[in-house]
Amino acid sequence: MKKTVLVSGGAGYIGSHVTVELIEAGYDVVVADNMSNCDMTCFEGVKKITGREDIPFVKMDFCDAAAVEDLFGRFKIDAVIHFAAFKAVGESVAKPVMYYKNNLGSFLNVLEAAQAHGGCNVLFSSSATVYGEAEKLPVTEQSPRLPATSPYGNTKQICEDILRDTVKATHAAGATGAINGIALRYFNPIGAHPSALIGELPRGVPNNLVPFITQTAIGKRECLSIFGNDYPTPDGTCLRDYIDVVDLAKAHVVAVARMLNGKMKADYEIFNVGTGRPVSVAELVNSFEKVNGVKLNYRFVDRRPGDVTAIWAETSLANEELGWKAERSVEQTLASAWAWEKHIAESNKK
Ligand code: UFG
Repeated sequence: MKKTVLVSGGAGYIGSHVTVELIEAGYDVVVADNMSNCDMTCFEGVKKITGREDIPFVKMDFCDAAAVEDLFGRFKIDAVIHFAAFKAVGESVAKPVMYYKNNLGSFLNVLEAAQAHGGCNVLFSSSATVYGEAEKLPVTEQSPRLPATSPYGNTKQICEDILRDTVKATHAAGATGAINGIALRYFNPIGAHPSALIGELPRGVPNNLVPFITQTAIGKRECLSIFGNDYPTPDGTCLRDYIDVVDLAKAHVVAVARMLNGKMKADYEIFNVGTGRPVSVAELVNSFEKVNGVKLNYRFVDRRPGDVTAIWAETSLANEELGWKAERSVEQTLASAWAWEKHIAESNKK
């Protein structure tokens, strides 16, 4: 029997890539999204890539407890991957109540409904932001979580804790309603599907580096600002671990399989999902120019408040336990990001 995976926030950037990989791995997928930060472009792209017109899509808000309960009643859900959340760091500083209400509320509703329907496997989309400015690099899953510097980051930490506590309590309570949990801590997801049919579609001015680069290259933005060239790093710009979104999506598939096949070593597990390779902002910009043969207009400006100097992942746990490894090079990923930006420009002309 095919297993069914619910992908909350499945019409968004990472959710759509994960949906594709799940379907290609043979799962049935239910996509649910309130469309607050996306349109149907990616969901339509998912249908094209997979050749599946019949993927169930539910437009709903995970903050609506009755709607979540109803969803679990309509489908027999074997695993949930929870993406539905707000994700802009700066906005979370300005609107903390909105962030806590949305990011915690939606997750609590999922856990409540999952328990009420006999238990479930829950994969939570966490972030390297939980490590803050780490003293020792690369960070392992055992590295300390430092106090979050934004409400957004805090919601990731709190949701990890909610999942950990729920897993523990439901297992202690006995067989029915047990929740198994995995938190995947993503580093910096970038790039797009090789088909260029799905990718990141930021609304308004992008906060993140790669969409800003591609929008500058295509002429939507005049100039990329590189935030700081006086960091204590080899070239003075920040170091990050940029993970290809398709590689990242594949990590979800193996993590879900681990839960469904009873392969977990503990009822709650955490994995870093990165490449293990630090790349500086300047290096990324140079690689983008080189691999795509375009000249980018950029300048160095002051540091952006809240940025950590450097963070990259120790990936051996995911490599060994999940049997997963990032495969695509930064160059391939930057080429896919550029192909996606050009695809959007073409579609907008039509
Ligand atoms: N950067 C620029 N110019 C830009 C945008 C970004 O120079 O226009 C730099 C940043 O200063 C940083 C690097 O590019 O050094 C990466 O920045 P991103 O905004 O792309 O990514 P972050 O590392 O800041 O963000 C990631 C995730 C968030 C998470 C955050 C925690 O995207 O979800 O880490 O720090 F919350």
